[in-house]
Amino acid sequence: SVAPASWDKPLAGKVAVVTGAARGIGATIAEVFARDGATVVVADIPAAGDALSDTANKVGGTALALDVTSPDAAEKLAEFCTERFGGIDIIVHNAGITRDKLLANMDEGRWNSVINVNLAAPHRITEGLVARGALKEGGRVIDVSSIAGIAGNRGQTNYGASKAGVIGMVDAEAPKLAEKGITINAVAPGFIETAMTAAIPLGTREAGRLMSSLLQGGQTVDVAETIAYFASPASNAVSGNVVRVCGQSLI
Ligand code: NAI
Repeated sequence: SVAPASWDKPLAGKVAVVTGAARGIGATIAEVFARDGATVVVADIPAAGDALSDTANKVGGTALALDVTSPDAAEKLAEFCTERFGGIDIIVHNAGITRDKLLANMDEGRWNSVINVNLAAPHRITEGLVARGALKEGGRVIDVSSIAGIAGNRGQTNYGASKAGVIGMVDAEAPKLAEKGITINAVAPGFIETAMTAAIPLGTREAGRLMSSLLQGGQTVDVAETIAYFASPASNAVSGNVVRVCGQSLI
């Protein structure tokens, strides 16, 4: 039978963490989660400063200065959320960076920093939260991949590898997390209008827009609403999936 959930506030009573939430897609995820009734923890690097507290204030949430690549990120997050809220129900690994360069100039620093933020950190934090029992039964892990991890993109060997890695990670972690009653899914956005894509040269940006399944750049809310589905009771039995949002692979 259909559960009598409150579809007005499907995330009521849930504690949701969003990394990289000071701006862009992460800030909109925080907004949508708050609309849906969640208690939201918005996390971002200390350098995000006022932008982070502004997002927290806007959504009535709590700000946490957290570099996802720091070795104690999981411990810090677990302690913060357990002391204040009794644990975590939903975590969105949204923090991400690009350090684009054509292959010949793809130095190790660029490679390592992108792999660390986009791929190693989500894995380390998920593992660390589960090991500490901070992620509750019925919990949700939501990763952010990219169409660049499916189709590949010139100058983005590091970024594409990290985002393809996220897809492999979701596949591998799903059965393990299922033992704890936790689901894991990912979104793979196409071209979304944010500060990250504003930095792309105009011609490449236009090409990115045209590769979208909607033939135009997507908005942060398009990604946030799909993530809200993965967080909601509507997706109780959905795990190990990757959903493209505003993006299609042309190859
Ligand atoms: P953005 O650059 O506007 O925001 C990213 C946020 O992550 C920033 O607030 C930044 O301070 C934070 N961040 C960076 N390193 C961090 C760290 N070590 N610890 C904690 N926070 C950190 O980017 P945007 O566009 O909002 O992207 C969000 C996610 O969506 C990223 O994972 C990105 O790769 C992914 N994505 C974006 C697409 C787009 O077209 N904008 C397309 C596909 C995926």
